[in-house]
Amino acid sequence: MKRKIINLVLAAVLLSTAACNPSAESRQSADNDTVGALLDSVSFTETIAGKETPLYTLKNSSGATAYLTNFGARLVGLWVPDKNGTLTDVVLGFDRASLYHNEDEPYFGPVVGPFGNRIAKGQFTLDGEQFTLPTNNGPNTLHGGTKGVHFVHWDVKSANDKVITFAYTLPDGQDGFPGPIHMEVTYSLSDNNELTLAYQATSDRKTVINLTSHAYFNLNGEGSGSILDHQLRLYADQYTPVDETLIPFGELADVKGTPFDFTSTKTIGADIDQESEQLTYGSGYDHNFVLNGTQVNGLNHAATVSGDQSGIVMDIYTEEPGIQFYSGNFMADRVTLKSGAKDSYRTGFCLEPQHFPDSPNQPNFPTTTLNPGDTYATKSVYKFTTK
Ligand code: GAL
Repeated sequence: MKRKIINLVLAAVLLSTAACNPSAESRQSADNDTVGALLDSVSFTETIAGKETPLYTLKNSSGATAYLTNFGARLVGLWVPDKNGTLTDVVLGFDRASLYHNEDEPYFGPVVGPFGNRIAKGQFTLDGEQFTLPTNNGPNTLHGGTKGVHFVHWDVKSANDKVITFAYTLPDGQDGFPGPIHMEVTYSLSDNNELTLAYQATSDRKTVINLTSHAYFNLNGEGSGSILDHQLRLYADQYTPVDETLIPFGELADVKGTPFDFTSTKTIGADIDQESEQLTYGSGYDHNFVLNGTQVNGLNHAATVSGDQSGIVMDIYTEEPGIQFYSGNFMADRVTLKSGAKDSYRTGFCLEPQHFPDSPNQPNFPTTTLNPGDTYATKSVYKFTTK
């Protein structure tokens, strides 16, 4: 009740600023019951490295709303209805743009690339030429290096209230990657609560590519506590075991009989404390699962996950062969979220559809090489329902 009153007051304040703020009309109205932090584009918009960093809004007929920004082509927030129809913000993020420009920022919601996930020892070879990248995760390169595509401004190529396309050209040699690489990501929100991310890339030189969204989810609502009671099913019979620096050995291992078996629904926390070298290496789940090809509408069904309190169910469908499941093991009260809560231990999880980690150095994994003249195109769909 108290929270409802606070939300109504907040909504009234936001409505009163709508006249001077063009995107305010697409925000929650005072009639909507809401869980989470309402975003205000006036206070969100700030300048990062000399460039304006505004808030963009997609909204569908049921009121579901996605908030995005151009810095890292990020998903800042995502409001979807819970089992009672209450709009709930299921994606972790900040209420001010500049908070994203921070070394303690744990990749909240950006597109990561040009190579999401790890490249061993920051090195790979293409046609006999060796490329060296900055290492930013122990001995390895994580999520494209220091700048990647998460710490840069993307251009807004086109935008309306249902679809937005961001574009970015990674200069040749940035973070050591051959290029230039021209990338686009299109976010669209359908009237049946599907958020689709469609990625494209071309390059002038032979290079590597592995783009994904690094959204952190809490389906009970951002800042509502642990994700360990969420129910998870992964459509994966195998995963790629890793060494202590989280680089795969190259082999695919069966999940059966291990804590990595999510082939039937169980809570994220059910086996997370089991004695397992792999769980020790990951400090929990931080592994790539090999999708088993379960098809829905021509896409791989990757995951079904639900919030135990909200009844919100998220299904992920993708053209990618794998999904990295990260159970928020490094979250450590370093930053303050939109809701006012801290990013406490395991209060968010990531499910990142992608190619397998370290693919440029792993001949047995599906290729991540992008040849000049070819177009990389892949999409992932996040569908929200309730139960
Ligand atoms: C994940 C990665 C984790 C951690 C996280 C960001 O994608 O697998 O190890 O680095 O990003 O904190």
